[in-house]
Amino acid sequence: MINTVNPQTKGLNGIIEIPADKSISHRSSIFSALTHNKATIKNYSHGEDCLSTLNVLRALGVDAEFKNDKELIINSPKKFTKPQTILDSGNSGTTIRLMSGVLASQDFESTITGDQSLQKRPMKRVITPLEMMGAKILSNNNKAPLTICGTRLHPIDYNYEIASAQVKSCVLLAGMHACDGPTSFTEPFKSRDHTEKMLSYMNADITTNGNTVSINPCLPEPKTLIIPGDISSAAFFMAAAAIVPNSDIILKNVNLNPTRTGIVDVMKQMGADIEILDYRLECNEEVGDMRIKYSELKGITIEKDIIPRLIDELPIIAVLATQAEGTTTVKDAQDLRNKESDRIKTICSELAKFNAKIKETPDGFIIEGKTKLTPSGMLECYHDHRLAMSMYVAGLIAGKPSQINEFQWVNTSFPEFEALMERIRV
Ligand code: S3P
Repeated sequence: MINTVNPQTKGLNGIIEIPADKSISHRSSIFSALTHNKATIKNYSHGEDCLSTLNVLRALGVDAEFKNDKELIINSPKKFTKPQTILDSGNSGTTIRLMSGVLASQDFESTITGDQSLQKRPMKRVITPLEMMGAKILSNNNKAPLTICGTRLHPIDYNYEIASAQVKSCVLLAGMHACDGPTSFTEPFKSRDHTEKMLSYMNADITTNGNTVSINPCLPEPKTLIIPGDISSAAFFMAAAAIVPNSDIILKNVNLNPTRTGIVDVMKQMGADIEILDYRLECNEEVGDMRIKYSELKGITIEKDIIPRLIDELPIIAVLATQAEGTTTVKDAQDLRNKESDRIKTICSELAKFNAKIKETPDGFIIEGKTKLTPSGMLECYHDHRLAMSMYVAGLIAGKPSQINEFQWVNTSFPEFEALMERIRV
């Protein structure tokens, strides 16, 4: 589906509710299934990635039904059953990596895979620790499909050189089912900590000490979980309001977990006008509303420990940087090449089609602003939802209509994206 985005001629205005966080939704259904009991999840994401997690759980014998648009009921059997089919994670890295940690301790063999894009992404990062714990895994050259022969796992103390919440969660989930003793995971910078927060809310035996998390063998207890709005989805609206003149919008119910708010810190440093309203705690997660107005932006350097706190927002930060006076440099973000697309390459190629002054580097990019964006030719999203939405936001301030190919990839995380944009474009 080709989407034509017309430039926005007046300010964005209105109040919208941001749909459920993807990372927290995945964890809520997996951890509820691990209680082997019945639990309710309120406001579960309707994005395709989170529905893939539900399908994988269903293939293991879990009953996961939406009671209505807003409520998901998980009913998990006393023991998972050997799946009769290959488990399909679709486009979702979180599904395959977290579920690998669960499958490694089952008393059956299973195969888990995903779509063409997921089959190109690195899986050695989860294979290595799971094999150290005793699992036997067959792969296609360290890529999916993964055939996992579950076993009684041994605990490990694992040190990983990349800050990765998916690898951390995989190891902790395997550690939860290890035979005896604590399993720990250490990373160089703190990645998102939803696993730690949710498991401790569910009374699992988990502790954090700096960048090390440890878990003792245990089962989480069933709890009613409420999923807040996704700051990574909110980011496209925050950026749109910051660059479309005369904008003033309010985003309701956004997750403000400090391991995810790098985008707020960076935008404020660039000069954006962002106000947090009604800050509160819900199911162990910080939540609030956000007011964002248009303002002049300036270029900055983004590097080191802030990178994991905004890793998914770098494509939209690149769009912001085209509208900031001076140079914006992103460094230390090599893992961006392993996402739904090689985001360093794809953001540079597509923003260049808008005439942006952007230069690719091995671990990031350098952008000179401020540039009047003018699209030429067809914009591609390379099976990558965040690239599709970044192009849309760039299209709002472009000199003429922009055309985005295969725009349906937004459904991976944010099927409501265009309808919500339309609401603030009136
Ligand atoms: C996620 C962790 C991050 C992030 C992804 C979701 C998670 O990946 O990019 O969109 O839910 O744990 P890495 O763990 O590979 O950094």
